Amino acid sequence: MADKKAFVTGHPIAHSRSPKIHGHWLAKYGIDGSYQALDVRPEDLAAFLGSLEQSGLSGGNVTIPHKEAAFALVERRDEAAEVIGAVNTLWLEDGVLWGGNTDGLGFAGNLDQYAPGWAANGPTVVLGAGGASRAVIHALKERGVTDIRIVNRTLPRARELADRFGAGVSAHSAEAVGELLADAGLLVNTTSLGMHGDATLSADPAGLPDHAIVTDIVYVPLETPLLAAARARGLKTVDGLGMLLHQAAPGFERWFGRKPEVTPELRRMIVADIEG
Ligand code: ATR
Repeated sequence: MADKKAFVTGHPIAHSRSPKIHGHWLAKYGIDGSYQALDVRPEDLAAFLGSLEQSGLSGGNVTIPHKEAAFALVERRDEAAEVIGAVNTLWLEDGVLWGGNTDGLGFAGNLDQYAPGWAANGPTVVLGAGGASRAVIHALKERGVTDIRIVNRTLPRARELADRFGAGVSAHSAEAVGELLADAGLLVNTTSLGMHGDATLSADPAGLPDHAIVTDIVYVPLETPLLAAARARGLKTVDGLGMLLHQAAPGFERWFGRKPEVTPELRRMIVADIEG
């Protein structure tokens, strides 16, 4: 295979674990390619994206704060990017710059791996109504979940998302969460609360039925306060690291032509990095 070059761009970018994930796959499959972190300032993003082909880059990932700006700058978008309104994966196809969003696939892939059958577990409560929530709701709808309850501190944001996604998606204020959890089969935290040990939303997993699954998109720490409370209650929990690993796979396949596996070995490597 020709020497293919891919990247992750953000600002700052030093914290990104994507080079480790893709570097692991490149070595494992013996692919003659590279994947590097490129710090690009917001004011330089348009010029950077315009020069990918000249720079010999095949594509890459886009992270904070460039996901929405990249959405506006690409020439074509896949369906997930259109629905989510943000781009996390770029590739060139016949000289045309495409943007896609694989966050929803990452979310679903993680649950498929650790909680098979999750999509048929019942009503789903989604905490948060930002960009990450949009990716999660898109995945839930794609996988046939028919009762999706968005709970957000700012109710109008939840309403806006519910309107955007239509049938089966409802909006609720934080005060309603207890009632919404009573018959839920899946609880998803998409807010940044819980990151680095912060307090979590007032959603108490004690109120969930015994068969419920609880997952968090936050993965630092791996066990957020929400997941710890759910585990103490005896519920099935899935941490957010698998979402990061699974969202990386479709990009790798596009740029390097091989579908990579999300293995326990890869997970252990990234866990060691997080626990540093
Ligand atoms: P992202 O793209 O990561 O989802 P975002 O668009 O900034 O980020 O959305 C952050 C989400 O976390 C929102 O749902 C936000 O609630 P509001 O819409 O009310 O702002 C939620 N969030 C962040 N900090 C919060 C806090 N201290 N308490 C409750 N919700 C919080």
